[in-house]
Amino acid sequence: MMNIILLGPPGAGKGTQAELIIEKYNIPHISTGDIFRAAIKEGTPLGLEAKRYMDSGQLVPDDVVIGIVKERLSKDDCQKGFLLDGFPRTIPQADSLAAYLNSSGRKIASVINIEVDSQILLKRLTGRRVCRNCAAVFHIENKPTKIDGVCDHCGGEVYQRGDDTVETVNNRLQVYRTQTEPLINYYKDKGLLFTVDGQIPMADLFVQVSKIIEGTHQ
Ligand code: AP5
Ligand code: MG
Repeated sequence: MMNIILLGPPGAGKGTQAELIIEKYNIPHISTGDIFRAAIKEGTPLGLEAKRYMDSGQLVPDDVVIGIVKERLSKDDCQKGFLLDGFPRTIPQADSLAAYLNSSGRKIASVINIEVDSQILLKRLTGRRVCRNCAAVFHIENKPTKIDGVCDHCGGEVYQRGDDTVETVNNRLQVYRTQTEPLINYYKDKGLLFTVDGQIPMADLFVQVSKIIEGTHQ
């Protein structure tokens, strides 16, 4: 089974590596942030609730997130593998995930922890641009779109996320340190953690990530 978790602070490059992983290994990409942004765009009750937290950089409550992920993981396309990006983000989320996977005879193969210095994260997030339609990730300097404001993959409109302002990024980094960083030791203790240097070029990082995935594939 190719059941993978991408862990790392906001701006570490989880979404960027996810695009490369799903293309190469053909597994579904489950990004809780992308699920919430799609719900906000559609104006659903879930979107309205999630927006209250996301705008200020707080986490959406555990029970809401856990319910969505379990439902997604129960689908047929997730039975042979999946890539979780941005989930779990708290110890209760990690415990619920383990219990749920165990109840369906599955387990996590690897947790890939992407490490990047805080000053670099701020530059990455404030310069990031995202496709409104397909959620592809770009950067004004590190990965510009070929045509200004237009997604290279689907031609959709490329925009700046509302939570990528300096103030909200600082809140998100603080929330990461207090609520999500403890997951590093949590997964280290379980022998599932693989830490990579997220400051090398995207393609070089993907070589490292691929080695971990292939070495832990069961
Ligand atoms: P979410 O959408 O998950 O945001 P995040 O975790 O803060 O992570 P980001 O998407 O900001 O960063 P990334 O690591 O994906 O980096 P990227 O590849 O884009 O969550 C948003 C919100 O939703 C949360 O704040 C919360 O409110 C809510 N939420 C989501 N999940 C939740 C959960 N489980 N529980 C509760 N609430 C939840 O890269 C960043 C930039 O850097 C890009 O511009 C990219 O081009 C560039 N870049 C990437 N890699 C490199 C590289 N190697 N070199 C140079 N530049 C690079
Ligand atoms: Mg992301």
